Amino acid sequence: MSANAAREQEFLEYVQSGGQVESTDWLPADYRQKLIKFIEMHANSELMGVLPEREWILKAPTLQRKLALTAKVQDEVGHAQLIYRVAEDLGKPRDEMFADLLSGKAKFHNVFHYPTKTWGDVGVIAWLVDAAAIISQKALLKCSYAPYARIMKKICWEESFHILHGRDVVLAMMTGTPEQQELVQEAVNRWWGPLMQFHGNPIAREEDPMYLWRIKSQGNEEARQQFLEGYVPQIWELGLTVPDSNLGRGDDGVWVYSEPDWAELKSVVTGHGPRSQERLDFRRRFLEQEKWVRDSLVAA
Ligand SMILES: [Fe+2]
Ligand SMILES: [Fe+2]
Repeated sequence: MSANAAREQEFLEYVQSGGQVESTDWLPADYRQKLIKFIEMHANSELMGVLPEREWILKAPTLQRKLALTAKVQDEVGHAQLIYRVAEDLGKPRDEMFADLLSGKAKFHNVFHYPTKTWGDVGVIAWLVDAAAIISQKALLKCSYAPYARIMKKICWEESFHILHGRDVVLAMMTGTPEQQELVQEAVNRWWGPLMQFHGNPIAREEDPMYLWRIKSQGNEEARQQFLEGYVPQIWELGLTVPDSNLGRGDDGVWVYSEPDWAELKSVVTGHGPRSQERLDFRRRFLEQEKWVRDSLVAA
């Protein structure tokens, strides 16, 4: 074994036993590259994830709802800022990350490629999409890369507030008129597929390179099971139905469900979702429009 391979093996054993590393530590090239890819996609998702909700700030039904939604959107942009900083520290400049996002080379999460058709979507996104996201993000508190794990504390705290906001929107509608209830049900029907795809295909965690390096501390299926266990009973309790007749909790406590559409997931995250290009165009336009601000800050 070469000296480098031995060092890499030692690093692997260290992170697999729960050890955490800092940006100033020696990092294997493969680890650094996987970390950047993972963190960059997370940052892109926070940044692109504000767009579906942003559309509803002007259309929010009351002043209180408008304030809460505005605050949530600001939180998400803040998350993007924090996470991009961590990726920058690992060696990828932000300009390059934006260029890769806009060219389609770097991805963002599937759920942010879909339209927000009604106010019901706003509730379902903040409640269930943020719930799915917080499951992954809570698992990142144990990430082997300490700077990323640290910022997750602040992010998870804010995400749990987003879930409360979403649940409140959904509750208000479910205790409202039949038309409001119908808007929520219709939103759940449309979002269920993307939500089930959210945690990715059920590859064994031992075969997942992100788990191997302990960037992630749980497997995809574990995360999905946690989501189902935490939220399906709540969805049912509100009188909503889930559009999957096979969904149920087995005697062994494991949830069974119809196979998510993995082909759709692949096509959506590679930029072929119903709103992918429109949202990337939006980002492109704003990056160009605000270039003078960045240039004057750099010049100052
Ligand atoms: Fe967020
Ligand atoms: Fe959030």
